[in-house]
Amino acid sequence: MARVLARGEGLLILGIETSCDETAAALVADDGSLRSSVVSSQAALHARYGGVVPEIASRRHLELVSPVVREALERADVQLEQVERVAVTQGPGLVGALLVGLAAAKAIAWARALPLVPVDHLEGHVATLYLEPDPLEPPFLCLLASGGHTLLLAVRSHGESERLGTTLDDAAGEAFDKGARLLGLGYPGGAEIDRLAKEGDPDAFGFPVASVPGLDFSFSGLKTALLYKIQELGEAETKRRSADLAASYQQAIIRALVGRIRAGVEQTGLGRVAVVGGVAANSALRNSLPEARFAPLELCTDNAAMIASAARFVAPIPYPDYLGLDAYASIS
Ligand code: KG4
Ligand code: ZN
Repeated sequence: MARVLARGEGLLILGIETSCDETAAALVADDGSLRSSVVSSQAALHARYGGVVPEIASRRHLELVSPVVREALERADVQLEQVERVAVTQGPGLVGALLVGLAAAKAIAWARALPLVPVDHLEGHVATLYLEPDPLEPPFLCLLASGGHTLLLAVRSHGESERLGTTLDDAAGEAFDKGARLLGLGYPGGAEIDRLAKEGDPDAFGFPVASVPGLDFSFSGLKTALLYKIQELGEAETKRRSADLAASYQQAIIRALVGRIRAGVEQTGLGRVAVVGGVAANSALRNSLPEARFAPLELCTDNAAMIASAARFVAPIPYPDYLGLDAYASIS
């Protein structure tokens, strides 16, 4: 893992994130204070396809990246000349989408002879916890649950974590999205299920929680169970009972996540628990873990503040050595 920067170097970091369908830019100072965070979501653009279309995402990032960076600078009330470091998501994610952010970051850094910091998107999610005003100091146990990943991490220090468990099939956010799709709700489905579930009975239907060995997760059986239940109920009854279905389905996902967190605490002895990633926005999950630290609601889903925050703990690549830097699609 890369060198840890000393604090107090007084740097203003511009972060750029384009790994999926959010075009985001943010300014974070080296002391961890967030100066601005701008997120332009393409969700509406992809909704008609029921998921992210990579080619459309790349093209839209290309149109949005400059205006989003400009707006982040404006909201922070700083000039580009005051930025001293550029941070960008290198992966994992959609390669075409990542390359747009990477090219923009390289161009901004190169034009001003600044260093560039490549950031791992997953470390970025964890680094939301390091922002002011109440940064969480490692060590802690962290559940990272997003649309692309479900990881249980033992975070030992800033930028250094051990992977205790991962999903064997779908990610938790993906399970929310696929369940929402089966229920005829919009995309992305996590927030829709969250909303609908508030009107339903979580014990109305008994959906299974997969029992896989160790600290891994599995959600594909749950999705199939929902599909069978919907087929059994038929269209009209499914519609009538959609809130109960959403609440019960959501409860099964939460039980799986909370169960693994509790087992992780037992196994590692780590007393403090944190939850980050898009699924950390789920209100029922937040209620189920009152003792855990959650990423701030507005920073659960993808953003660039987390990328700039993570960059505080990664060694920068000096100008101009980063011009050949490539994106990566999946976790190593
Ligand atoms: O972290 P994120 O923005 O993107 C990835 O890195 O994947 O996470 C997006 C995921 C989607 O699957 C979305 O359905 C889910 O987070 N999500 C939620 C909620 N808000 C977003 N899942 C459950 N409840 C929510 N309130
Ligand atoms: Zn993410």
